[in-house]
Amino acid sequence: MMFEIQTTRRRFLVGLVALCVLPRWQSAARAQSQTKPPTPECPDDDDVTPRQTAGPFYSPDSPQRTSLLDPGTKGTPILVTGTVLTTDCKPVANALLDFWQADDDGEYDNVGFKLRGHQFTDEQGRYRLETIVPGMYPGRTRHIHVRVQPANQRVMTTQLYFPGEPANDRDGIFDPALLMDVKDKGDAKEGTFTFVLKAV
Ligand SMILES: [Fe+2]
Repeated sequence: MMFEIQTTRRRFLVGLVALCVLPRWQSAARAQSQTKPPTPECPDDDDVTPRQTAGPFYSPDSPQRTSLLDPGTKGTPILVTGTVLTTDCKPVANALLDFWQADDDGEYDNVGFKLRGHQFTDEQGRYRLETIVPGMYPGRTRHIHVRVQPANQRVMTTQLYFPGEPANDRDGIFDPALLMDVKDKGDAKEGTFTFVLKAV
């Protein structure tokens, strides 16, 4: 009888522990698809930034500018900063970064150059982009397009994503390796992303 009571109590305790631990494990597993490990200071071949489609809305000859904000641009401001590195840990100076994105309503300017612009990395391989959080459009989660081109090398086209977006997991193009680190900064946001290119 005593043995039965102890066994029942043990089962109850095991069940209780499972109830407490399992949800945490499940939410951690869910969160995994929304986060990525931070890029180490010195990346290696495994950290190469994945290429992605340019999609149908790229326009050549964008203006050179680090701020895509024009008078009247509406939306949540975001400052995106980071570095372009090679897999042998060298900053890529003077790399061309050409950004384009949808506006707050999820629409691209395919006539002019609203929310489009290119810039070059500095001597430490750094870039700085002032823009807004792009709106979503049907079939896609929130994203910023970018072409990265070191001097005299081929273009690497990809897209940057926002963590915590429910639509990330429904988007067939989304890749967690392309998630920015995004933090709230008052009414605005700050994002960071390190582009890693294969050393040539
Ligand atoms: Fe797009």
